[in-house]
Amino acid sequence: MIVIDGKGLAKKIKEELKLEVDAIRSAGGKIPHLAAVLVGEDPASQVYVRNKVRSCEQCGFGSTLHRLPAEATEADVLELVDQLNRNQEIDGFIVQLPLPKHINEEKVTLAIDPKKDVDGFHPVNIGRMTLGLPCYLPATPNGIMEMLSRYEIETNGKEVVVLGRSNIVGTPMSVLLSRKGNPGNATVTICHSRTKDLEAHTRRADILIAAIGIPEMVTADMVKEGAVVIDVGINRVDDDSRERGYRLAGDVDFAGLKNKVSAMTPVPGGVGPMTVVSLLMNTLKASKGIV
Ligand code: GUN
Repeated sequence: MIVIDGKGLAKKIKEELKLEVDAIRSAGGKIPHLAAVLVGEDPASQVYVRNKVRSCEQCGFGSTLHRLPAEATEADVLELVDQLNRNQEIDGFIVQLPLPKHINEEKVTLAIDPKKDVDGFHPVNIGRMTLGLPCYLPATPNGIMEMLSRYEIETNGKEVVVLGRSNIVGTPMSVLLSRKGNPGNATVTICHSRTKDLEAHTRRADILIAAIGIPEMVTADMVKEGAVVIDVGINRVDDDSRERGYRLAGDVDFAGLKNKVSAMTPVPGGVGPMTVVSLLMNTLKASKGIV
């Protein structure tokens, strides 16, 4: 079984990005600059945003972190979004989700200028993606596409099953893999909480992408021999034997599947690092004014 090393691949792509930024700097061009907005103290969000800012530094990108307290109002967040939309120095920015309950995420997403929406969450970008027009692709599905491409995993004519239909992973993943292209040209099935006989679908998959947020729910009896399995889950599971009181678990029972599948991503060190790299690739695109 091949362990798909997202961490190693992300490091390699970051080195490539750094070379490109060095060349831009030498030529006196615009250095890509990402801003991130973090509202409140959600522990996982703090880790993700810290990784994004650190990755910018590693690649020579500019970055700015805006922290707002959990009590910030929707108007405060919209005001900051408006400032970032207008700030010429900022090429792209993200508002880390989830937002505190009293803030309407949809309203905030819609307020972001689609040209700076490097998360690819704005309906304009999702629409453009669906039509195959230039756009910012959502980071996680795009990171998975990059991974499939660099590992030369054939998707043409393959049966792909995506578990989960979220706006940020499952739905865009199904669009990207079914459209014309390489990777692409796959026959895609989306499964979700109302799917009947889930196992009948998953057992047919040449490529199984799990993005449901249920720790280790994909077990060996659910997969086809030789399948490629991509695990998007990052779940915190209580574990008193760890100093921090939890361990990270994917949506897939990695140990149970490893003698059955042909390739699989680990958690951590699989899809997660590729997501950050996608965001950097989008920010570089933004600084060049490609979208
Ligand atoms: N929360 C979980 N994943 C993401 C992401 O890719 N972008 C943002 N902004 N928030 C998230």
